[in-house]
Amino acid sequence: MSHPVTLIPGDGIGPEVAAAARRAVDATGVKIEWETAELNADVILKTGESLPKHVIESLDRTRVGLKGPVTTPIGGGYTSVNVALRKRLDLFANVRPVRSLPGVVTRFQDVEIDMVIFRENTEDLYSGLEHEVVRDVVTSLKVITRTASIRIAEYAFRFAESAGRKKVTAIHKANIMKLADGLFLRCAREVAARYPHIEYTELIVDNAAMQLVIRPEQFDLLLLPNLYGDIVSDLAAGLVGGLGVVPGANMGEHHAVFEAVHGSAPDIAGKGVANPTAMMLSSVLMLIHLNEHAAAKRLQSAIEKVYAGRRHMTRDVGGTAGTNEFTEAVIAALG
Ligand code: NAI
Repeated sequence: MSHPVTLIPGDGIGPEVAAAARRAVDATGVKIEWETAELNADVILKTGESLPKHVIESLDRTRVGLKGPVTTPIGGGYTSVNVALRKRLDLFANVRPVRSLPGVVTRFQDVEIDMVIFRENTEDLYSGLEHEVVRDVVTSLKVITRTASIRIAEYAFRFAESAGRKKVTAIHKANIMKLADGLFLRCAREVAARYPHIEYTELIVDNAAMQLVIRPEQFDLLLLPNLYGDIVSDLAAGLVGGLGVVPGANMGEHHAVFEAVHGSAPDIAGKGVANPTAMMLSSVLMLIHLNEHAAAKRLQSAIEKVYAGRRHMTRDVGGTAGTNEFTEAVIAALG
């Protein structure tokens, strides 16, 4: 059986890491009908659509996407297509597993880190509701709803249960944003009460940032509203080797789009040095979603084997290999 998948190369390092991930997936022997959909700054400016129709049409057909990063201009210009895509397809759960990799030298290499971040993906300060009240006075609306908060909490606890995980930590700032984060927290508590066998704890986001650096091994599953989830994901990535090694999944009721945590990395784009691990590990999550568990396991093990060997690691994790050399090594390790 062959699986239709929309491949969105994106821009910056996107096309390089997407091509590497595609090669690795194909090398597992799983049959994928790749449908490439261009989504990048050029297409957005040319079509004038922040979310071009052909991308949505393809994802509506395939229901599954593997996506490279897309640049968002800072402080002006078009709105984020990444955020627009998540909203348009109601990809409400952003799931980001953060795990130590063998062979990667980090400040935390002696600690076994294995946590999964559940970031609400559709609202919060990402609502894009900004308004200049009068000149030099701007408001930006933080939207938190019961529906979205219950939905992400349910998703996290269901995952905890099915994966045999022990603890969920909700992260918030309800001491200050008593109504908005207070609602998020009430929903998390309500769902937690239905899972008495899973430990439930809460941390204020600033304390959580410190705890993550001081004692990262205490964390199992993290449950966060959108903005804290975004920031904490990058912090957590830093614990295990950086943005080059952390994958992600955007999950909705009807669609799933897999993408790395990192962005388009304009500083290294086109140089052939980007680390494709995060995209490859996102492909592992995609293979699991497609019920191709054996292939997912083989690809994950091949990546870990390359890291354990330490000879083909990319620059960002202390090696000297380029994107291609790492990719070839993973394909060779697949056997
Ligand atoms: P970034 O993740 O692109 O880069 C941050 C740093 O990490 C850079 O030094 C970069 O070289 C390094 N890095 C990232 N991925 C790497 C990889 N695979 N291998 C080696 N090094 C890697 O974050 P930044 O600079 O904040 O954002 C750049 C652009 O990406 C912005 O336009 C932003 O909006 C966009 N972005 C897009 C995302 C998406 O499409 N889902 C997610 C995050 C950012």
